[in-house]
Amino acid sequence: MASSMEAQRKSLPIYSARDRLIREIKTNPCCIVVGETGSGKTTQIPQYLHETGLSKKGLIGITQPRRVAAISIATRVAKEQSVSLGAEVGYAVRFEDCTGPSTKIKYQTDGLLLREAIQDPLLSRYLVVILDEAHERTVHTDVLFGVIKGAQKERRERHIKLLRIVIMSATLDTSSYSNYFNNAKVLYIQGRQYHVNVYYTLKPQSDYIHSAITTVLQLHGEEESGENGDILVFLTGQDEIESMLHTLIQCKSLFPSHWKDMMVLPLFSALPSAQQQKVFQKPPPNTRKVILSTNIAETSLTLSGVKYVIDTGMVKGRGYNPLMGLDLLLVQPISKAQARQRLGRAGRESEGYCYRLYTEESFLQLEENTVPEIQRCNLSSVLLQLLAMGIKDILSFEFMDQPPEESLIAALEELVLLKAVNKEEETLELTPLGKRMSSFPLSPSLSSCLLASVDYDCVVELVTLVSLLSVDTVLYTPTDGREKADLARMKFFCPEGDHLMLMKIHKAYQTSNEKKSWCHDNYIHARNMSTVQDIRKQLKEICRQNSLQLTSNNDGERLRKTLLCGFFRNVAEHVRDGKYLTVLSRQEVFIHPSSCLFSVTPPPPFVMYTELVHTTKCYMRMVSVIDPKWLFEIAPNYFHKTMTTNMIQD
Ligand code: CDP
Ligand code: MG
Repeated sequence: MASSMEAQRKSLPIYSARDRLIREIKTNPCCIVVGETGSGKTTQIPQYLHETGLSKKGLIGITQPRRVAAISIATRVAKEQSVSLGAEVGYAVRFEDCTGPSTKIKYQTDGLLLREAIQDPLLSRYLVVILDEAHERTVHTDVLFGVIKGAQKERRERHIKLLRIVIMSATLDTSSYSNYFNNAKVLYIQGRQYHVNVYYTLKPQSDYIHSAITTVLQLHGEEESGENGDILVFLTGQDEIESMLHTLIQCKSLFPSHWKDMMVLPLFSALPSAQQQKVFQKPPPNTRKVILSTNIAETSLTLSGVKYVIDTGMVKGRGYNPLMGLDLLLVQPISKAQARQRLGRAGRESEGYCYRLYTEESFLQLEENTVPEIQRCNLSSVLLQLLAMGIKDILSFEFMDQPPEESLIAALEELVLLKAVNKEEETLELTPLGKRMSSFPLSPSLSSCLLASVDYDCVVELVTLVSLLSVDTVLYTPTDGREKADLARMKFFCPEGDHLMLMKIHKAYQTSNEKKSWCHDNYIHARNMSTVQDIRKQLKEICRQNSLQLTSNNDGERLRKTLLCGFFRNVAEHVRDGKYLTVLSRQEVFIHPSSCLFSVTPPPPFVMYTELVHTTKCYMRMVSVIDPKWLFEIAPNYFHKTMTTNMIQD
């Protein structure tokens, strides 16, 4: 086993560059490594540095934009090193730390390293920091560019051991990184890439999921049953993946029994790791894998055996409207660079085929590169973290690409409203409350209501509620059993809304004896529910570190008021026929079909929401009924100043 692992490592394209890479990283304070996905950057470079002895002087840290990638790659590397995960090779993601005193190679999310920098801005435990998947330009990676550059400079000035920086990217446009890191050396890894044939649709497709299903079935049906080649489909999220999965499984019976079997596998961030591992395993004989994935398979994870790529041309990304203060998750077109990455997934082992479910003309109209997330997201979390690191002069912080000024101002306003920051003329001062807020791995809104619970004497309940809001969902709704699920969960219905319903579910969960079967019977997501318990534990621990008393009170009105302390800007007023307008920005929003208030008649006149998603319309996803009078109690300055609607006349 060990020797086959060894042989596999040596067969990677990066292996021939091993000595050069070690030499260059040892002699240059900053290097940029560029190489095709699958060449071995993420798994091998940290091991090379470790094997050459660099890790004796400090940790080798590698960031990943996604938690699944961090976990799955650490698992793989621990195996290659023949050590148990959490020993020499470990990982850390939000709410989960799998490292130990002997850890030398640490995979982690970029968000987590940024958090670590709050405690230790010089990152003094690290000898090498590798920012991986830099081309994705997540907001955390972008901020880390500035943080590690600053840490390297400061360590040099203070004669502390040099911080070595490695930036890794799968795309070639490296000039901006090189310029930013003082003309850093760029190292190219020769990859293996076979020719990929590209096909476009002749007409624009109105329903890309439908087209994707048809394409999979055609490919599977047309081909000689003996031929190999897995199919990789790029979709935008869990919902889409699950619904397509369901349809394909139903269609399997269409094929005669002598036909090759189809093994349909989902791949997305929230998937349990045991299920994730299936996509890496060889399928049974005479079986073709059809992998339905989010853009996680674009560059972060390499799947072997893929010969066909079906590209819907869409991705789910963060969006933000600073003028309206609206945070959004939106399904949007990918960039040309992303389309090329997706295509490349088909040509890793032999000639491949890529089916783009859009026209060539649409392809030509795509943006050249993905717009860095920092230019299109809410910056309040990041701003709070930078302030907590002691970086006060935000406007002169050296970003690789400057975020829009209005986003920075909106973020600042949010922090001022949440009383995290004092704005005295030109200087920004973090308040003691703000400092406390920054110690929670939560958005400023969530940590703000958690801290408000101290005044409302319901810390325990808010810890639970915030934990419940920190997982994707605790409701498990199979595509073919929506009605059954709704029926089973009817007993949890709360006329006050989703937040109290979640609390009710949690309480029932806690008192149940057989958690797993209870979850199954009630259509509750067992794994997410157990994650909620882990998060609660951690948040309680942080409360203790902040000397917060774990008070308890489960009065429903009190809980909603406490929640409103962090979300008083997320309030909407019913106008007519289920249509709501946000109270301040007058934006049209609707209650999401998954909310327990969705079909309540008459619709509640005022609601607060903790999440907004934009699909066909703007939907509020976690919704509670509120009394508008609470707003004047909770945020008197804000609502006194800005209210102009008829709200006050009620
Ligand atoms: O980072 P880069 O895309 O250059 O490559 P990598 O992630 O280091 O992957 C190198 C090789 O390791 C690929 O051939 C993967 O198939 C393999 N690998 C694996 O088998 N299992 C994993 N969990 C991760 C990588
Ligand atoms: Mg990689």
